[in-house]
Amino acid sequence: MTSSLPTLARDIDGKAISARVLDEVREEVLLLASQQIYPALAVLLVGDDPASHVYVRNKLLRAKDVGIRSLEYRLPEDASQAQVLDLLAQLNADTSVNGILVQLPLPAQIDEAAVIHAIDPIKDVDGFHRENVGGLVQGIEVLTPCTPSGCMRLLHETCGDLSGLHAVVIGRSNIVGKPMATLLLQANCSVSVVHSRSVDAPALCRLADIVVAAVGRPQLIDARWLKPGAVVIDVGINRITTETGTRLVGDVDYASARTVASAITPVPGGVGPMTIAYLLKNTLVASQLQRSKANEGGSLPPMAVTQLQPS
Ligand code: GUN
Repeated sequence: MTSSLPTLARDIDGKAISARVLDEVREEVLLLASQQIYPALAVLLVGDDPASHVYVRNKLLRAKDVGIRSLEYRLPEDASQAQVLDLLAQLNADTSVNGILVQLPLPAQIDEAAVIHAIDPIKDVDGFHRENVGGLVQGIEVLTPCTPSGCMRLLHETCGDLSGLHAVVIGRSNIVGKPMATLLLQANCSVSVVHSRSVDAPALCRLADIVVAAVGRPQLIDARWLKPGAVVIDVGINRITTETGTRLVGDVDYASARTVASAITPVPGGVGPMTIAYLLKNTLVASQLQRSKANEGGSLPPMAVTQLQPS
């Protein structure tokens, strides 16, 4: 007798994959330590946003786990923009600090764009500075936003080569949607970006082999939006209230979507852990970029300097 139960999508295990990324980081940290190089990440939290406090705590804990030095800075909810910019100027100038992250959102009196662009691009481990955004679009090696980088790793581990696949990104934020679309294009996907003004978003989405949902609308995307066999990456983290209390859900209705998709990220345990893992990877990339720049800029190691002496 054949079963009439539908085949459910398999889970893409962000916890397991991020653990592998963290192992890679840990290994590199040890290698650098053997050369007396100790990469450091500075994290600035301004104000009292409870979710931001949780995110920052998790970032610092993971940094410690892999042996990356972290420096935590806190400013009060009523901090001025000048206070934030002063601190960033100090961190930019401090050569022992390799990565700088300012947790967003910032209190209303602070201009977010001004803060992002006050970070030295070579220390911008979020990849939000316009110099890094431009470099990403041009395919230059720059610091790249962590969540999209983590999503790409999940996709490569799930699908292998992505060439020729049609990817639909739902949402067009600077933090996720736009860099995600750029990375998918670099991986040779055909890319559509669906947003609040799109006409018939579900029909556009049903064309996709890969769906990346990053809109911040709880459980918006269900089985009706998906082509059978689609791979679904759910970036959303939304707290909803139910009869039994509150719980976290994604932008995708997981129970519905998994009856049609072939693979899907759960919430929590999908994209979330990848973001932190790529933040720590970026700290190592930043440290490497800074060493390369120092070597180009005249502080060459003794051997190379000797070679430059006239004979
Ligand atoms: N707030 C929510 N996501 C992020 C992120 O990726 N980086 C920073 N700095 N703040 C955030």
